[in-house]
Amino acid sequence: MRIVITIGGSILLKEYDNRKFEAYADIIRQLDVEHELFIVVGGGRPARDYIGVVRDMGESESICDEIGIQVTRINARLLQLALKDCSYPAIPENFHQALEYSASGKIVVMGGTEPAHSTDAVGSILAEYVGADLVINATSVDGLYDKDPNKFDDAVMFSEVSVDELMGIVSGNETKAGTYEFIDKTAIEIIKRSAIKTVIVNGNNPENVRTAISEPIGTLITS
Ligand code: UTP
Repeated sequence: MRIVITIGGSILLKEYDNRKFEAYADIIRQLDVEHELFIVVGGGRPARDYIGVVRDMGESESICDEIGIQVTRINARLLQLALKDCSYPAIPENFHQALEYSASGKIVVMGGTEPAHSTDAVGSILAEYVGADLVINATSVDGLYDKDPNKFDDAVMFSEVSVDELMGIVSGNETKAGTYEFIDKTAIEIIKRSAIKTVIVNGNNPENVRTAISEPIGTLITS
């Protein structure tokens, strides 16, 4: 299968050390034996911290986004280094470059592309562009719940949610730099228009990414 894996920066940088990068590199190398992989890496806390500094300078949201994109590319570079020779040694800045680099047969790792969305949307657009069979979105939660599981003991996780239901849930969320929660609206629009199979899993355990390829896990977004 041709698979796009998006990994939240908050997952990779939770402990601010090399371990999650190495753990993901191990799994990705194993999956690469059977599948063609494209990896999209998010910004996490450093992106939000830098965006906060730039916003306090009074700069526009697009400039804040640009700084966020730079941080996602640094994180992508770190994962690329952990993958060593398996990964293509440059970070694509757009979808055309991603496709071009994949012709090398190596794993393509990238961060953000342009302002006004998050790396969730990059993953969906990339999947559409390269005709991927599956998007796995590794986040910091197990999946989509009917209410906040940190606040409510009786919160129930959805094993499936339709794109329209999901859009209803996230429609009130902010679209400012560094504030995309759970999954952003652009990503949902793309999943809808191209019926891209997308699974949201808890990326704190990288094994969940492997599981998502063959078994039901997390929340499947159906179109
Ligand atoms: P992320 O994709 O990490 O955003 O990009 P996020 O969902 O807020 O953070 P995670 O999921 O916890 O890692 C960081 C920021 O970079 C900008 C946005 O401002 C985003 O919030 N960005 C990223 C873009 O503007 N365009 C892109 O293509 C990617």
